[in-house]
Parts: sequence; C-alpha cells; structure tokens
Amino acid sequence: MNRNSAVALWLFVVGMLVVVMAALGSWIRQVPAEPFLRPVCTAVRIWPPWSRDAWQHALESDPQSHAAGDAPALSPSDLRRYCALWRARKMVGAGLCLVYFGPLLLFYRNGAILRHRLPAFSAAGFLVLLHSGSLWFKANTGVTTPIHAAQLRSAFHFVSALGLLAVSLWMAYGYFYGQPDPIQPRTSASLRRASVLFVILHALQMTSGNLMASLRAGSVADSFPFMLGRLIPPGIWSYYPSVWNPLANPLMVHFQHRWSGFVVLLAAWVQVRRSRMELVPGCLGATATASAYLILAQIALGIALVTLDVPAWLSSVHLLTAMIILATGLLSCHRAFRA
Ligand code: HEM
Repeated sequence: MNRNSAVALWLFVVGMLVVVMAALGSWIRQVPAEPFLRPVCTAVRIWPPWSRDAWQHALESDPQSHAAGDAPALSPSDLRRYCALWRARKMVGAGLCLVYFGPLLLFYRNGAILRHRLPAFSAAGFLVLLHSGSLWFKANTGVTTPIHAAQLRSAFHFVSALGLLAVSLWMAYGYFYGQPDPIQPRTSASLRRASVLFVILHALQMTSGNLMASLRAGSVADSFPFMLGRLIPPGIWSYYPSVWNPLANPLMVHFQHRWSGFVVLLAAWVQVRRSRMELVPGCLGATATASAYLILAQIALGIALVTLDVPAWLSSVHLLTAMIILATGLLSCHRAFRA
C-alpha cells in the first residue's frame, strides 16, 4: 500500500464518526424509558417528533408502544434530550455515508486508491450500510419481540460499528505508514499472535460490555469483588436453556464481564512482554505498553461504574476508553505485521 496522507486522514475521519455514533448510541440508551421511545423514532421517519404533544400523539398511535404497555411518565427535559440525541445520531449517520462514499469515488477517480484495493474498500462500504441497516432493523423491531432478541440486535449493531472502526483504522494506518521498511527486521510469529489475540479478546470484551449496557446489568450488583455478597453470586445459571445465561441473564453477563476484563489485561501484559524480548519496529513497544496501562485504567473505571451505581457520564468515558484501546491495539497489530 503506497503512502498517502490524504486517504489516511479521510479514513481516520470515518473512524472518528463511528466513535461519535457509538457515544451518541450510549447516551441515547441512558435516557430513562428509552425502550418506550425508540419505536417512535424509527429510521423510516426522517425526524422524530419535537413537542411534548407530538410525542404523546406518536406514542399513542404507534402499535409497538401500545403492545409494550404504558410508557412511564417522562419529563419534558427527557423528551427534549432524547429528541436532540436522535437527531444528532441521524445526522452523524447520514454524514458517515456521505463522508465514506463521496471521497471514495473521488480518490478512486484520481488514482489515489488503486483497483486492487477496491475489495477492502467495498467491505468497509458494506459495513457502513450494514451498520445503518441494523439500526433501522433495531428501531423497527422495537420492544414487542422477546427481550433476548432485543439485546442481541443491539449487540449485532455494535459489532458492525466495531468492524467498521477496525477496518477503517487498519486501512488508515496502512496509508499513513506506506510500504513496509525493507531493512526493518520482521517481528516473530509469537509477537504477531499475541497482538492478534489481544485485539480479538478486547473486541469480545467490548461486545460483552454492550450486552451489559443493553440489559442494564451494571445495576444488579454495586460492590467489587463480591456480587450480592459472594464471589460467585447465586442465580448466574438460573435461565433455561442454560445457553441463554451468558447472553440474557443480567447476573451472568455482569459476572462474566467484570472478570473477563482481567483476561484482557493478561493478554495485554503478554503482548508487552513479547515486544520487549525482540527488536520491534518504532511505536509498537510504546503502543503495546499504552494498551496495557489503558486496560488497567479501564478496569478501574469499570469498578467505579459498578460501585457508583452506573452514572451515565462514567459509562460514556468507559466506552470511549474502550474505543481508544481498540485503536492502540490495532496499531500494535498493524506494526507487527506490516512494518
Ligand atoms: C478490559 C476491560 C474492559 C473493557 C474493554 C470494557 C468495555 C466495556 C464497554 C465497551 C461497555 C459498553 C459501554 C456502553 O455501551 O455504554 C462496558 C460496559 C460496562 N462495563 Fe466494562 N469493560 C471492561 C472492564 C470492566 C470491569 C472490570 C467492570 C466492573 C468491575 C466493568 C463494568 C462495566 C459496567 C457496569 C458496564 C455497563 C455500563 C452501562 O450500563 O451503561 N467493565 N464495558
């Protein structure tokens, strides 16, 4: 891949928009009574209603909100905040499509993107469409379907965002650094494996965090390391069939998320150890160390979230830190393979 800072910058901007979309999604989820409001804001309607009366009318005439039962009383400020966040998310979503497909055509026409790179760009374009499509699906299948399905749709939407962020950052790093340096010694297979493992485990941990947030599982326990007074709380296998427990039982999802964070920390530590055992390309060692420290900070944030009863602002900081760690992890991985 030839060095091209304009293409790299464009792909970084695409990545930034994905992060903004995820942050808005996280704030929207934290609005009280969000599941009752969501069906009204379906993606087919360009703008959600604005005034309180219009909201009331929309809620009353919407079959999904009827099926979901009566919405709890909502304050005008909640409605305004929810409306503003939905508008912002729709604008950023539309902006993402424009910012991706517009420059893609221009860069291809002026030769900055070569023909043999098109499959990778098409995959990223597919993820842009999949992300928007899954939001439409999530919004249109609302709260009437079983709760299991609701948080799995949300996880699917989240994973499509993670995939898009990962692909756009990976290509951005490629255009930023250009061709591998021929004099640079190759990294060992074990360092490459460690860096891939770290990125995969971190992405899985982020997905389990999304399940936590969708199920509001953060509030089922407010202490650390004990949950409900025990290291292994009662009820983590109470759902039947048991395969649903890691996906739908808030106790199990919470229990698994808080401890798997330490597995990710271990993977980060292995990566740092490996990177110190050989001559590594510039910035690989630094980004591996940064990822390990950020994971430590992320665990501390997670513990604070649990003990402070999940404040909305802290949850957003936890999400943004996770996205930054994904970017540093991918950078180490990219340098391990392509430097
Ligand atoms: C490697 C470490 C960790 C990573 C990468 C991570 C990542 C995430 C992510 C991406 C979310 C979703 C946030 C959102 O969508 O708003 C989340 C949620 C959450 N995480 Fe973590 N987490 C980690 C460790 C922990 C630990 C150790 C704890 C607790 C001891 C914890 C507690 C929580 C809680 C309570 C939520 C739910 C927040 C909400 O309901 O809005 N996390 N995590």
